Amino acid sequence: MNTLLIRRATLDEIIPLRHAVLRAGRPIETAYLPGDAEGLGEHWGAWNGGTLAACVSLYQVHRNGQPTTQLRGAATVEGLRNQGVGGALLDATLAAWRSNDQAARPLWCNARIRAVTFYERRGFIASGEPFDFPDAGTHRYMELAG
Ligand SMILES: CC(C)(COP(=O)(O)OP(=O)(O)OC[C@H]1O[C@@H](n2cnc3c(N)ncnc32)[C@H](O)[C@@H]1OP(=O)(O)O)[C@@H](O)C(=O)NCCC(=O)NCCS
Repeated sequence: MNTLLIRRATLDEIIPLRHAVLRAGRPIETAYLPGDAEGLGEHWGAWNGGTLAACVSLYQVHRNGQPTTQLRGAATVEGLRNQGVGGALLDATLAAWRSNDQAARPLWCNARIRAVTFYERRGFIASGEPFDFPDAGTHRYMELAG
């Protein structure tokens, strides 16, 4: 692996990876999330050499009537998983979010069960019962503490 370049990304840059990892075998339209059409997401990417290796996105959404930030679409290309790429990208994204006084709080995500420990290591806490998303398996609500 080369030195990672982590920076803000455009939606167009991340859609192919998000599609390949999170919506594999389904139409490309399914890779778009609410807010994308309006340009509302904040996207981040980690590049390995010239190739996008991981992506993640933040969206301001209302939850229980309050503005919050939802983390969505975390994905690392299959051949580079478990090498710290996704973690480095998440750390950089969370650091930028924390330093932005205007960002809606709290930050939360619906984590796939397999990814719960990945988020726990960064200070997210799971709450509530596990629940299923059709086609995406069992998830847990997780919120970034502090
Ligand atoms: C979750 C994911 C983004 C992590 O990226 P990564 O570059 O592998 O991350 P890191 O190397 O920094 O950390 C590895 C951790 O990711 C998690 N992970 C590993 N493989 C995974 C998989 N296939 N699916 C979900 N999570 C996985 C594990 O928590 C792992 O740590 P552990 O096995 O030691 O507990 C990546 O595995 C992925 O794209 N998975 C498939 C899509 C997905 O589940 N996205 C998350 C939606 S909430």
